[in-house]
Amino acid sequence: MNDLTTNFLVTLTFLATVGVFQMALAAFDLPSGANDLLNVQPVNMEFNCEGRKYGYYGDINNDCQLFHICLPIEDADGNVIDTNHWTFLCSNGTIFDQQTLSCNYISDSFPCEESESLYGTVMFGLQDDELFKKL
Ligand SMILES: *[C@@H]1O[C@H](CO)[C@@H](O)[C@H](O)[C@H]1NC(C)=O
Repeated sequence: MNDLTTNFLVTLTFLATVGVFQMALAAFDLPSGANDLLNVQPVNMEFNCEGRKYGYYGDINNDCQLFHICLPIEDADGNVIDTNHWTFLCSNGTIFDQQTLSCNYISDSFPCEESESLYGTVMFGLQDDELFKKL
């Protein structure tokens, strides 16, 4: 496993342990009952991870009630051969805040419609390689 994959699994384990987010298994695979919470009906499925870097992405088309984790899978030569995509649902009354990369109350959250301006700028789950080597 490469570092990104390891980091990602650690992150997923952490999220599952603290129970902050309801887990989804794959792209737009939402927990039962999700439709009772979502403003946008039916769910807008346009968001795509293809060509995106590893990171957390608020789903603007779904009022940021959903967010996605994209994880490019590279071969030994560093070529992207696939991109994993997981979708998560924020708790009732919260949306994905692209500034803190967490589900937050709407009134406290970075504006959903501007989320794209922060895509790729706030890092989480990436290790500083130099720092890591010193540990
Ligand atoms: C979501 O929260 C609102 C406001 O508190 C509440 O009226 C509604 O019943 C909740 N929806 C679900 C599915 O729990």
